Amino acid sequence: MSESQRLVILASGRGSNFQAIQRAIDQQRLKAEIVALLSDRASAGALELAAAHDIDSVCLEPRHFSDRNEYEKTLMTAIDGFAPRWVVLAGFMRVLGSEFVRHYGGRMINIHPSLLPRHRGLHTHRRVLEAGEREHGASVHFVTPALDAGPVIAQARMPVADNDTPDTLADRLLPLEHRLYPATLALLLGHRVELRNEDICIDDQTLANPLQLGHDLDDDGRLVNHGAR
Ligand code: GRF
Repeated sequence: MSESQRLVILASGRGSNFQAIQRAIDQQRLKAEIVALLSDRASAGALELAAAHDIDSVCLEPRHFSDRNEYEKTLMTAIDGFAPRWVVLAGFMRVLGSEFVRHYGGRMINIHPSLLPRHRGLHTHRRVLEAGEREHGASVHFVTPALDAGPVIAQARMPVADNDTPDTLADRLLPLEHRLYPATLALLLGHRVELRNEDICIDDQTLANPLQLGHDLDDDGRLVNHGAR
């Protein structure tokens, strides 16, 4: 596997997005290699999944460090030891400092369960219902120092039903996330994608709007509607 296909995943929880990415690799829909899984929680299911897939893992719990700076420096050293091309946040429940974020500028992405820029932060499913919105979704975005505010690469959308609850929304959205993240990674690995200031450029063309899964982007990360760019 070439240098450009090396992924490091950061996850705090059950790791279903991590698993979806690994599944896409196993099924050869995504030509990449997860070289390590890092977690900030010893109880994270993602660590067990890494072991099951024979993927190196490192757990660094913040409580063992004197402050955030020390923690992030150690995390950075651990990540850099695996020499990844992309750092992939998949349910990593920590707000990262600006020095850390800048170090991985243009090569760190995150999946967020809302149609950004709507509903940054937590409890997105509940907030969608409270706002009376008829549509919900997930976004994959570049990570920049401001929380959940980096340029959005791709989104998956779904309608909100009258009887939806935060739990039903979360349950319906998760399978879409599991399609969106591998597809976006395949796009990133298959094209020359760059972050120029706050603009996303794909093969030298500026992306005007986030790509929509099933419209502009297929499940294998192919651009299917160039007119949308
Ligand atoms: C997902 O909903 C993701 O959008 C959010 O955290 C959750 C992680 O779930 N950032 P999992 O650990 O990948 O199952």
